[in-house]
Amino acid sequence: MFETLQPAAPDKILALIGLFRDDPRPNKVDLGVGVYKDPEGRTPVMRAVRAAERRLYDEQGSKSYVGLAGDPGFNTAMVSLVFGPGADTSRLRAVQAPGGSGALRVIAELLHRSRPQATVWISDPTWPNHVPILNAAGLKTASYPYFDAATGTVRFDAMMAALGDAAAGDVVLLHGCCHNPTGADLTHAQWSALADLLVERQLFPFVDIAYQGFGDGLDADAAGLRLLAARVPELAAASSCSKNLSVYRDRVGAAILLGRTPAEADTALSQLLSVARGMYSMPPDHGAAVVRIILSDPALRAEWEGELDEIRARMIRLREGFADALRRQSNSDRFDFVARHRGMFSRLGLTVEQVARLREKHGVYMVDDSRINVAGLPDDRLDDLAKAVVSVLD
Ligand code: LMR
Repeated sequence: MFETLQPAAPDKILALIGLFRDDPRPNKVDLGVGVYKDPEGRTPVMRAVRAAERRLYDEQGSKSYVGLAGDPGFNTAMVSLVFGPGADTSRLRAVQAPGGSGALRVIAELLHRSRPQATVWISDPTWPNHVPILNAAGLKTASYPYFDAATGTVRFDAMMAALGDAAAGDVVLLHGCCHNPTGADLTHAQWSALADLLVERQLFPFVDIAYQGFGDGLDADAAGLRLLAARVPELAAASSCSKNLSVYRDRVGAAILLGRTPAEADTALSQLLSVARGMYSMPPDHGAAVVRIILSDPALRAEWEGELDEIRARMIRLREGFADALRRQSNSDRFDFVARHRGMFSRLGLTVEQVARLREKHGVYMVDDSRINVAGLPDDRLDDLAKAVVSVLD
């Protein structure tokens, strides 16, 4: 059987984990995979998560099946977290999924069931795993311009022009906040103009919101998605708890649908559950139960939001510090955009060769497209790092 197979190409982001681990240099810097790190380079279990896990351990009386949709309390809490506590939930339906990637995949399968000929428009650049996830579900993709590497800004006019050519019924994959890999987000006015275009062209928004709380705050980061939900007739959202609750390996996410009517939302939900049944049956429970406990307990929730505030403030400080160091070392404002971007990533605009030189000569690890994980920046060596970056520029 297996003699027909060729080795699969390793995932470029995940491969960096092994490369970094095997590098013996003591001053190596890991700006690779999108995992939050504290000043000591650790990814600790959050205090609120630890407390909720203890409570779950004490209170959970059974590990029997919960159901295809996962934990109902988790799903309700996630709808409120993502769409706001005052959201009209009559047309919203949620299913717990194995992480944000799992949510993306079940929604992609649902879209394929509903409209197999649809093209999914993805931003250029986007998170590299978007394409395999969409293609695995049988969907075609096309890209719309998004990022101007020279200025570090969103190419909004070009984006709108490209989407203006999309066919009615096509899907537009959007990053809710903290765009991965660029860190450059749409403004409120741009979300509003985009909503008009989506309605006018009858395009279906599919929003990947994996970093809520990492940009400007839990509500601010969901503002674009909430604006769309108030204006478009239907949409889908894939939400992840990996980053903002730091439960990466527990695989916690939610697939959320907004239907045109409550009845259509119910039908779409039933199909989503049938997709899940055919793929993995039921999502893993532990992490979602922990998130449900945190989101529904005022004290634990406040503790978590405080921790999230600290994480966000630290990333903004690192962004500002690194942008300053780059300005000093390069004698230019070329990298000032690093301070303006939001979330865990910025793309520095280096070539693949320059990224390789940084890795080989300086032990600095980043994704080939020069995406850096801001949380990996070393607080006390920002100028050394900036000097290394400047040294590989042509
Ligand atoms: C990333 O973009 O680094 C993360 O989302 C991890 C992943 O799955 O690629």
